[in-house]
Amino acid sequence: MQEQDGSGKCAVKIAVCGKGGVGKTFIAGSLAEEFFRQGRAVLAIDADSSPNLALTLGLSPQDAQAIVPVAENEELIRLKTGTSYAGVFRLTFTVDDIIADHAKATPAGPGLLVMGTVRTMGSGCTCPAHSVIKALVRHLIVERDEVVILDMEAGIEHLGRGTAEGVDTLLVVTDANKKSRETASAIIRLARASSIRDIRLAGNRVTGDRDAGAIRSCADENGVPVGILIPFDPVVAEAGITGEPVARDGSGALAAIETLAKTLAGDSAPGAGP
Ligand SMILES: Nc1ncnc2c1ncn2[C@@H]1O[C@H](COP(=O)(O)OP(=O)(O)OP(=O)(O)O)[C@@H](O)[C@H]1O
Ligand SMILES: [Mg+2]
Repeated sequence: MQEQDGSGKCAVKIAVCGKGGVGKTFIAGSLAEEFFRQGRAVLAIDADSSPNLALTLGLSPQDAQAIVPVAENEELIRLKTGTSYAGVFRLTFTVDDIIADHAKATPAGPGLLVMGTVRTMGSGCTCPAHSVIKALVRHLIVERDEVVILDMEAGIEHLGRGTAEGVDTLLVVTDANKKSRETASAIIRLARASSIRDIRLAGNRVTGDRDAGAIRSCADENGVPVGILIPFDPVVAEAGITGEPVARDGSGALAAIETLAKTLAGDSAPGAGP
């Protein structure tokens, strides 16, 4: 059952994943902005260990660099998990204030929370940070009553860590490239074993029928629907080079993402199936 946010609309929680460089951050950021334009409260989460969602949401490189990721905020982690016993840390705490204090407003509209990396190579001292991140993600995707979009780390490892467990929709991004399709297939196989029920393939940088056909076949082979086919867009490619935000007018990719946002909002309406 989905919760309602202040607008009376259903909450939507979406994780965007896929092979490195397929367009996850562009799609996650543009989707977040699109939901915001539709009048929704939106929180965008950068769950990538090399975060750059801030730039896509219009922050300057200086402002983006000034953000201290939650996992690297030692004072916050100590505050949340500290006890007076050496080597012992608290496992239950509230995370609402983390969002209130650490989510940053962006020029594009959505709030942005940067998670940062938790190095779990058996080092006990990183456990408190890990427990804060896990509690935060769980809280965000289970209890928050707004649109939450997670920009995931490239590849499949995050599925093993269960970072996206509990989202409504897993949007697996691929382009027509065989290696991207293979990573997408691996992600879908792992996601099927999780609690995520709605898994969709998003085709990106589609240049013609051949690309579209390869992406459709990948979806068919894995038994998932194609959520959207986003065209290769020279406007987006140019913005990638200059670092400037993508101009809305004339962007075929943003038009496709607008359609995707409307579909996802409609599909998560009460009584609607995925
Ligand atoms: N539909 C598109 N048309 C043209 N260029 C695109 C399109 N989608 C993404 N790009 C460009 O591709 C590049 C990679 O996109 P992006 O950074 O979103 O990928 P990513 O999957 O998040 O990468 P990483 O795995 O490194 O986080 C960017 O320069 C972006 O502007
Ligand atoms: Mg990215």
